[in-house]
Amino acid sequence: MNSNIKIFVEDDYNTLSKKAAEIFACAVNRKPEGSFGFATGSTPLGMYDELKGMVKKSELNFTKINAYNLDEYYPIKGSDNQSYKYFMAANLFDEINLPKENRFIPNGEAPDPIKECVEYEEKVTKASIEMQILGIGNNGHIGFNEPADYFAGATNYVELAENTIEANARFFEKLEDVPRFALTMGIHSIMMAKSILLLASGEGKAQILKDSLFGKITPKVPASVLQLHCDVFIVADKAAAKYL
Ligand code: PGA
Repeated sequence: MNSNIKIFVEDDYNTLSKKAAEIFACAVNRKPEGSFGFATGSTPLGMYDELKGMVKKSELNFTKINAYNLDEYYPIKGSDNQSYKYFMAANLFDEINLPKENRFIPNGEAPDPIKECVEYEEKVTKASIEMQILGIGNNGHIGFNEPADYFAGATNYVELAENTIEANARFFEKLEDVPRFALTMGIHSIMMAKSILLLASGEGKAQILKDSLFGKITPKVPASVLQLHCDVFIVADKAAAKYL
């Protein structure tokens, strides 16, 4: 394994969230006016709670950072409570006083998704992200970069894999309600971040985490590309780290 990957194995989800928040807070304190990459999904929620706690205690200040989110469903209205724009506002941004003009996310309401991808990529490239938070999908996706025959470079318009739709159905009333398309930073957009903080929790992620970190680097396992990044933090609980 690439020696630039640092793995932290924590007892449980609670300590995983604390450790991840510590690492992220350290990066923000080092660059309080920098750009940072955020992720949705259930895994970072505990870390977001920890970060909110640090802000409350004035240990951390997010008011000057710029936040770039990995992905958004398409099409979806930002006001829809299933949108990632809404998710970030409700679960983190509104509570850490991050000004609205500092929040960037692919626009799920854009009339032309391809044009939106090009424009978002330009923003991300200019931003130069200090640290990108990632979850990992059951199929190894990062952002919505699903297993494929090649690594998608820039921000792109994608069709979601069936197993991603099934995994995300837990947030919707029924399977048919899950959007089938999304806009996502590409693999290259993610790899440009100066450092990566990937969180994995639960036994369901154990095999894919092992394949990603120790297996062949292949677009069939999108997260395996992280083996080529020069500064990666993996924070996993014992269950997810079972095969490491
Ligand atoms: P999860 O999603 O945190 O809800 O497991 C991770 C992902 O799909 O990237």
